[in-house]
Amino acid sequence: MKSSISFLFVIFILHLIVSVSAGSGYYGNKENNNDEDQETSNNPNLDDLPSTLPEFDDNGLSSSYYLKSCPEAEAIIFNIMEEWSTKDETVLPSIIRLFFHDCVVRGCDASILLNHEGSERTAEASKTLRGFEVIDDIKKALEEKCPKTVSCSDILTAASRDATHLLKGPYWMVPYGRKDGKVSNAKEADDLVPMGHESYTSLLELFQSMGLNVLDLVVLQGAHTVGRATCGSIQERIYNYNGTGQADKCIDKQYLNYLTRKCRWASEYVDLDPITPNKFDAMYFKNILDKNMGLLATDQALTSTISTSKLVSTFVNAPTLFDYQFGASMNKLSKVKVLTGDEGEVRTNCNLVNSNHY
Ligand code: HEM
Repeated sequence: MKSSISFLFVIFILHLIVSVSAGSGYYGNKENNNDEDQETSNNPNLDDLPSTLPEFDDNGLSSSYYLKSCPEAEAIIFNIMEEWSTKDETVLPSIIRLFFHDCVVRGCDASILLNHEGSERTAEASKTLRGFEVIDDIKKALEEKCPKTVSCSDILTAASRDATHLLKGPYWMVPYGRKDGKVSNAKEADDLVPMGHESYTSLLELFQSMGLNVLDLVVLQGAHTVGRATCGSIQERIYNYNGTGQADKCIDKQYLNYLTRKCRWASEYVDLDPITPNKFDAMYFKNILDKNMGLLATDQALTSTISTSKLVSTFVNAPTLFDYQFGASMNKLSKVKVLTGDEGEVRTNCNLVNSNHY
């Protein structure tokens, strides 16, 4: 245990060093991105050179991307997220999940938002996704303020960060400049998006195909500390696990009792974290480690290998590490196969590719 904590502390320090030296990392400071003064200077100095250039990362993204073209973008996104959350707090976890589903298929390119026959959004795997209208509201406000500027993929990325923060979770700096994709295919979503009954190995393979690792897999599943599942997602697990006609033996008896009472209909909802369902904290990890109270088989499976169990217990014992690493891994997720420059477009309506409505 001690060794895994120190291992994570080393990662923590490394991340901190990298983000501070990159000037655009986690908890980065917007004020550092003020390149205006530098650009107007007619007396260039070699020492100033790095700060005169936009700080694009290896993926072509930059936290100062909208600094001139739409400086209010982040505030507009946050305000609309906050407004929605006061009306219906359940949209916050739904936005985080929407973002994950988007990034799994073709990377974070807002392909999940395209709404046409056969698009990802119409897939079986997307059946219970919610929050599309929140993104539409944000897009409408941004099109009024800065037309044709802020991409739907950047909106979804920032909105998922804000959702986490509004649920009392961590805050991190989001780099921008993603373009929106033009292709969206339901079959790809059904083939790729995990639904809760996959093996740990296949989940790890999926994450690795996205350039993510075991640490990212464990910490990002920690998003299940908020939000709900439909009972349909756990029916097999509680009534007919692996065709046995019985519940999964891993489930805590009392918890199973609660679930069978709660889940009479597939359309009912059940909290992913039964203890603190509306708070973004490390309780999810405590539930699976101490009580066998993981809702999905894939949640509980995080305690089935030594390396993942160690990470789980590290997050239980040091919740601030969970916060930190969640921000860092979400940032990594948000860069998966992003489109930049001419590779994509800035949709004016997140539901449609531009050519469809010009
Ligand atoms: C890696 C394996 C994962 C699996 C197997 C999985 C599976 C699921 C399932 C089955 C649901 C419930 C769907 C329903 O019944 O309506 C769900 C909900 C959710 N998932 Fe995941 N998920 C995974 C990873 C992630 C990741 C990486 C994130 C975010 C970074 C995430 C965020 C969420 C959230 C917030 C909800 C609640 C949504 C709501 O309340 O509307 N999941 N997930």
